[in-house]
Amino acid sequence: VKDVKVGIVGASGYSGAVCAAILSRHRELELAFATSDKAAGEPLAPRLGLPDDVCKLQLLPHEAAEALAKDVDAVVLATSAELSMGLALKLAEHTRVVDLSGAFRLDAASYPKWYGFEHRAVPALDEAFYGLPDLFGAPPKEARIVANPGCYATAALLAIAPLFRDELAFSDRVIIDGKSGVTGAGRKSDEAYSFVELAEDVRAYRVGAHQHTPEIARYLHRYVHGVRPRVTFTPHLLPLRRGLVVTAYMTARDDATTEKVQASLAASYEGAPFVRVVPVDRVRAHDVAGTPFALVGATVTEGTIVSICAIDNLMKGAASQAVQNLNLWLGCDERAGLDSLPRFAP
Ligand SMILES: NC(=O)c1ccc[n+]([C@@H]2O[C@H](COP(=O)([O-])OP(=O)(O)OC[C@H]3O[C@@H](n4cnc5c(N)ncnc54)[C@H](OP(=O)(O)O)[C@@H]3O)[C@@H](O)[C@H]2O)c1
Repeated sequence: VKDVKVGIVGASGYSGAVCAAILSRHRELELAFATSDKAAGEPLAPRLGLPDDVCKLQLLPHEAAEALAKDVDAVVLATSAELSMGLALKLAEHTRVVDLSGAFRLDAASYPKWYGFEHRAVPALDEAFYGLPDLFGAPPKEARIVANPGCYATAALLAIAPLFRDELAFSDRVIIDGKSGVTGAGRKSDEAYSFVELAEDVRAYRVGAHQHTPEIARYLHRYVHGVRPRVTFTPHLLPLRRGLVVTAYMTARDDATTEKVQASLAASYEGAPFVRVVPVDRVRAHDVAGTPFALVGATVTEGTIVSICAIDNLMKGAASQAVQNLNLWLGCDERAGLDSLPRFAP
């Protein structure tokens, strides 16, 4: 039995299950409870592909979470943004909360437009820490809620933030294309996500309306004060299970070269255990699927910087990033639970 305990609300969903699988084998943290209404009473191990002695938990109904939160050091919320908003407030009275949703990433005024609801937890929203450790470091000890970044926002910010900070990118706008596998949409069923509609297809969605657009703009500005380019972001759905790639385009300063932009990325991520800088044509979803890594690389062509980042949307885009945040917040080795994962994808 380990001393530091963590619970998960929404462990039947894609990102919650991946997080449960990581925490079940974590050497310093113990997964103490996991919830699902639909699968309440079922053992968790078979759902995660783990031996029974590695994970002995049964899924509990969501309503059990509030009482159980009193006995754990942190809870991960793998729930929709509207649910997380209320749940995080309740649970943060008893413990630390890492929220995978977008409920604590924007300012209150942005919620009706980008998420379709009014924010009803404004003080908590103002105090939440944006947990992108490779750019913003460890959550402060006194924080109660860590907003785990969005999957596209993680990849986009990793690709562009150092280049604006080092003034190699010099634009009043940044154009970002995103491509994601279908697990990015969660376990929901809907005609648009049926096999026949998805297979052999590529389509843009939520053009001009994706909620990660203001998130990218907000945290780029927080990372590089004074820099506030307008963000055009177009996500695309690909017939992959896992994996996400963003390609960002920025105007290059006159003397910017491929060597300089790669050096800027390399210097930025020198101490980041899960960000690897590689030549731009080596950035691919295949190499990060099932891993906690981001691959990033950039080049300069015709006065434009093209910077590309690939992550697994369920790992660095959600669950492994949440574990990185937990590790840093709870005083564990940043790499614990993440440095010896079997790769899930071939
Ligand atoms: N998928 C990704 O790539 C990704 C990446 C980054 C962030 N996220 C964010 O992570 C969150 C979860 O996404 P997902 O894709 O893992 O979703 P998902 O597969 O649709 O799972 C949703 C989870 O929410 C639970 N839930 C439903 N109603 C609930 C309630 N009333 N109280 C508590 N839990 C409830 C479900 O449990 P039941 O078994 O009871 O239905 C299920 O475990 C979302 O906010 C999403 O935006 C997802």
